[in-house]
Amino acid sequence: MAKTLYKTLPEAESARRRNITFDFNYEEINVPTSLKEFAKGKTYHIHTYGCQANYRDEEIMAGLLEKAGFCKGNSEKETDIIILNTCAVRENAEKKVFGKIGDLKSFKVNNKNAIVAICGCMVQQKHIIEHINKTYPHVDLIFGTHNIIDLLNLLDEVITKRLRIVDVKSLPGDIHENLPSVRQSNFKAFVNISYGCDKFCTYCIVPYTRGKERSRKMADILKECQELKDLGYKEVTLLGQNVNAYGKDFKDGSSFARLLDEVAKIGIPRVRFLTSHPWDFSSDMIDVIAKHKNIMKYIHLPVQSGNDEILRLMGRRYTSEQYLKLVNEIKTKIPDVALSTDIIVGFPNETYEQFLDTLKIVREVKYYSAFTFIYSPRNNTPAAKIKDNVTPKEKNRRFHELVKTLEEVIDPINQTLIGKTFPVLVESVSEKNSELLSGYTEHNKLVHFKGDKKLIGEIVNVKIKESHLYFLMGELVDG
Ligand code: SAH
Ligand code: SF4
Ligand code: F3S
Repeated sequence: MAKTLYKTLPEAESARRRNITFDFNYEEINVPTSLKEFAKGKTYHIHTYGCQANYRDEEIMAGLLEKAGFCKGNSEKETDIIILNTCAVRENAEKKVFGKIGDLKSFKVNNKNAIVAICGCMVQQKHIIEHINKTYPHVDLIFGTHNIIDLLNLLDEVITKRLRIVDVKSLPGDIHENLPSVRQSNFKAFVNISYGCDKFCTYCIVPYTRGKERSRKMADILKECQELKDLGYKEVTLLGQNVNAYGKDFKDGSSFARLLDEVAKIGIPRVRFLTSHPWDFSSDMIDVIAKHKNIMKYIHLPVQSGNDEILRLMGRRYTSEQYLKLVNEIKTKIPDVALSTDIIVGFPNETYEQFLDTLKIVREVKYYSAFTFIYSPRNNTPAAKIKDNVTPKEKNRRFHELVKTLEEVIDPINQTLIGKTFPVLVESVSEKNSELLSGYTEHNKLVHFKGDKKLIGEIVNVKIKESHLYFLMGELVDG
């Protein structure tokens, strides 16, 4: 497929615009007749990278494809449609995808009529589209995060016109309801409550790839949660790049605290939410979390850095003192809370002393777990324009020092869990030992224990026997 049809291309400038209204669309999906015909007996395979937003997008794309008549394939090697659902948050995420696109060259040789499509955050960047078009002629379709709704029509066009198609809008984004979806689990689910992000942290690409921060209507979210409850789901995670800002765009007093309260009342055994920005974390939210037994006492509260100057340069809108004040309020009102975080080391020109402030805050907060990243410059973000004087070697060294400090904090916490019994939602058979089951505690600690496979999807009591840095070993407790 040599010829390319460019329908839309992303633009960094219009991606930055926020003063545009968006629509709520209650969809009825029409499958093009020719695609329905094409789909008969054919399979699809979606390969997802990145965060829960992409995970949920995969479920929607699967829903659309199955509505057209495609079935989920058993083997990636022999499928008729392969979609790479990509992430752009750090350079190594993009490298992985490029490696995979390269691998698909031989797939296409063996499956000449198969369709290779790339979507997700990575292709919301013009230079990435140009690179794919120049380097990987076996890619048939590139579509953006705002074009998922058009997937069936785009596929139909690729098939009937035999063209390569690029359709990547840089919109503030709409909200589409009533989309079909195929959930990947029948006991835990993600529910989007808002899309996009308006925070524009200076290092971050997400506001450009996902558009304006926009909330779903509360009634639509509650309806989805109720349906999940009726289907017997054990855990629901409310999703947004910054869940705390939920409802602010309605300007009618809607808030995340109110939404969370209503979701908890539905009675799903476990309610979680992701991610909280320290800036919008209200006292009302803390009260609601404290009040409901089924809201997990686990809060992911990215700090990014413990140094005020770095926080300012990152555009995070809080100081370390304000962050610690919030942590204290949370810990006072919710004594059994577990906090986790995201940390970036090696922001441009970060000094060693500034980095030490991050270690200090890690020791002070006593995180239960943390995701740690080395700063990665992202195209068109303000931080990427800063000339950086810290060498990659030094960033690496600091990264390892941070991981060591975290381990020194997490290990004693895990030790205190030995001998205690916790409810665990059983996820799967352990990847490393088929005789063990794996699941998560309320505090998101991974536990392995012996048990019958029939327990997958159930909440069981497990007594902790051994603690390791990144997992616990336990024993099933009767009743
Ligand atoms: N909206 C969420 C998640 C954003 S992406 C939040 O604000 O927490 C998840 C994490 O990736 C961020 O918290 C940050 O720690 C990290 N991250 C984002 N951009 C990055 C970059 N350019 N380099 C390194 N890490 C980055
Ligand atoms: Fe990125 Fe900041 Fe938005 Fe999180 S809050 S998605 S880090 S811009
Ligand atoms: Fe990655 Fe996009 Fe999520 S950049 S982290 S997949 S919002």
